[in-house]
Amino acid sequence: KFTPRVFSGIQPSGNLTLGNYLGALKRFAEKQDEGVETIYCLVDLHAITVWQEPEALKRQTREAAAAFIASGVDPARSILFNQSQVSAHAEMAWLLNCVARIGWMYRMTQFKDKTQGKNAENSSLGLLAYPSLMAADILTYHATMVPVGEDQKQHLELTRDIAAKFNHDYGVDFFPAPEPLIEGTATRVMSLKDGSKKMSKSDPSDASRINLTDDADTIAKKFRKAVTDPAPLPESLEGLEGRAEARNLVNIYAALAGRTAADVIAEFGGQGWGVFKPALADLAVAKLEPISTEMARLMNDPAEIDRTLTQGAGKARAIAQPILEQALDIMGM
Ligand code: ADP
Ligand code: NA
Repeated sequence: KFTPRVFSGIQPSGNLTLGNYLGALKRFAEKQDEGVETIYCLVDLHAITVWQEPEALKRQTREAAAAFIASGVDPARSILFNQSQVSAHAEMAWLLNCVARIGWMYRMTQFKDKTQGKNAENSSLGLLAYPSLMAADILTYHATMVPVGEDQKQHLELTRDIAAKFNHDYGVDFFPAPEPLIEGTATRVMSLKDGSKKMSKSDPSDASRINLTDDADTIAKKFRKAVTDPAPLPESLEGLEGRAEARNLVNIYAALAGRTAADVIAEFGGQGWGVFKPALADLAVAKLEPISTEMARLMNDPAEIDRTLTQGAGKARAIAQPILEQALDIMGM
């Protein structure tokens, strides 16, 4: 009943990281070769759930668009646009706010993480409702597949629950249940200073993260300083058990090289960090430098980026608006 369609998004909430590249951007580009429609969104309405300096948000939005394009997302083959330019997202989110339950939102681990140590009652109402806006993003395109990192799995399950409750409450088969696509060796890239935390652009306290705009020296230095245990790399995959930092670096290598973690262990098993870290740094520089160079080139012409996003918004609106109107009609409006 539903045409296969890919939708995903990234918040323009700061410097995009290696985690965003491996967990999202690289896979977004690959999806374009699979003969399905691909729709990618800079979710600025999500970014403002926590404070954003207005001028910084504008720059970050263009920079994120440049990162998509430099990573291989082709605006001629994918729809690439900015969430706030397509009002159907916010309107659909309101409809879904009235379908979703408050308790579902309080159960989200990302909400708990982001309000940790702070008074949850004093965070924005938008931060609590974040997952219902995300459901709106996806459902307003009748998207069937959503490539995301592991951290978004729970939000995707919630999207399916909201779709199912809408269909049940109104006795329709209107929204598809979108499938999360969580694939590959880098679905959760961890921080280089703490293997128990994910690498995130939204965590300004973590200076170890690899930004897509970092130059070669910075990338090499960050990998050199990556925290690990002292033991050499194990001779088999099982030997990574209980070694979060070692596993993380092996997974990053595998994802960048397009190989399996087992392949990487077969090549580097028994070697010390003095060998592996420089090899990883070289590989990362080889893969990321063309991206940062292309991003810098694109950022020289912000007006061109804005034109691309405006065109993308027009194409997105053409899909989203009729689906929003049908949802309104189903609900009696
Ligand atoms: P962030 O948490 O860095 O602010 P977003 O919430 O904007 O990133 O997420 C954008 C996309 O990048 C999502 O698909 C998310 O799953 C993915 N992603 C974010 N951080 C990582 C990571 N460390 N490893 C793998 N994927 C990630
Ligand atoms: Na996130």
